Amino acid sequence: MAGFQKVKGTMDVYGHYATVKEKIVSILSEMAELYHYSPIETPMMESTSLFERSTGGTTDVVEKQMYTFFDKGGRSLTLRPEYTAGVARAIVENKLYASEDLPLKLYYHGPLFRYERPGLGRYREFNQFGVECVGESTPWLDAETLLLAVESLYYLGFRKVKAKINSLGGKASREAYKKALVAYFEPHVGEMCEDCQRRIKTNPLRLLDCKVEHDKELAKGAPSILDYLVDEDRERFKQIVAYLQDLGVDFEVDPGLVRGLDYYSGLVFEIALSGAKDYGSVLGGGHYDDLLGEIGGPSLPGVGFAVGLERLIASYMDEGLDKGSETRLDVYLMPIGEEAYRASVPLLVETRLNGYSAELAPKPAKLGAYFKRAERAKARFALIYGDEELKKGKANLKDLDKVEQVEIDLSNLAAELDAHVGRKEESEEGEHHHD
Ligand code: HAM
Repeated sequence: MAGFQKVKGTMDVYGHYATVKEKIVSILSEMAELYHYSPIETPMMESTSLFERSTGGTTDVVEKQMYTFFDKGGRSLTLRPEYTAGVARAIVENKLYASEDLPLKLYYHGPLFRYERPGLGRYREFNQFGVECVGESTPWLDAETLLLAVESLYYLGFRKVKAKINSLGGKASREAYKKALVAYFEPHVGEMCEDCQRRIKTNPLRLLDCKVEHDKELAKGAPSILDYLVDEDRERFKQIVAYLQDLGVDFEVDPGLVRGLDYYSGLVFEIALSGAKDYGSVLGGGHYDDLLGEIGGPSLPGVGFAVGLERLIASYMDEGLDKGSETRLDVYLMPIGEEAYRASVPLLVETRLNGYSAELAPKPAKLGAYFKRAERAKARFALIYGDEELKKGKANLKDLDKVEQVEIDLSNLAAELDAHVGRKEESEEGEHHHD
């Protein structure tokens, strides 16, 4: 019988990749907490209508990409294709907005599902890390959110981080712009792809985002939304741009940037990491005014972004930023002989209790075999002892990087480990990404 295979567009995560993923999530969380964000978790499935209401009934996500099914109780449920709607739902349902300290600043990470054609950096199950800042709306909060996005990538070690930004304005600006867009595309409707022929009626902004070559060319001559912003929206965008300039954020205004989800108004942005391979945009986000109201909550604004972890990890590895983040074992125990092996258990337990990772081979072995195992485990130190040493309460602690060895006193194991193994960890701490 042929074995089972994973579902198309999904991946198994293990080994070095799994370690890197954990590390990246922890660095991103650390950064979000520096900006005073706290974690939130929402369910992986929601009522289908939540996404139809929030993300927009005529977006690609809702029209083509959702994993929707009926549960045994006949409810239509959808595996979340994005986080913002679920977070907004949680804010409304739990009345998190009833706080003196708005905005709420929430961060999250986890898996999402979109039925897309799998390809480079494109999966059907993928992961995001994202933030939402909800309940207050100021140009500063918009700028601060984009600053967090850019700084997070910088903090991970990426150096060329350039954001594309645009403003979709409020309803009045968008309605005026949509009219202009329709007027521009209308004479060409016969030449455009099927999707665009539909979009011109249902969602004209999406005409700017078509991937078909002919339509892409056509979109280049389209009017710019920036010419249709009402004064208030134009002024706000100007203020955001001024903040970003003051902050030294590297950005470029791209009037063609419209984003694929319908809840945006005002600032939108995307970041692609320039590298050997083009994974498309790694991060996207923007401001929304009507999302909470649309799903039955108070009309509160928000701004947020999400970064795709698979694309981020791929670029991180392409750039070699994962070097040095391999997991290392602190101490490999090497008892020589049966008796020493049995006497190892308290040493193993004490080493771990003191915060040092430690391993004992599954059964007694020769020193050479121990060393091979220690090498594969990338152990920093070997603790070597036979019956004779144990009787004297001694063992040899060998630094496997420097090939140096000291005799230590086992009755004082914790202090000996702190002195030799601990000091080494501290000195390596400084080499991490904070440069
Ligand atoms: P999005 O642009 O749809 O925005 O997704 C954000 C990121 O998720 C993308 O830039 C990409 O890195 C990653 N991503 C999307 N689809 C896939 C896929 N099929 N495979 C791998 N990675 C993918 C949102 O989801 C918004 N909720 C962001 C946001 C938060 N806006 C405001 N707050």
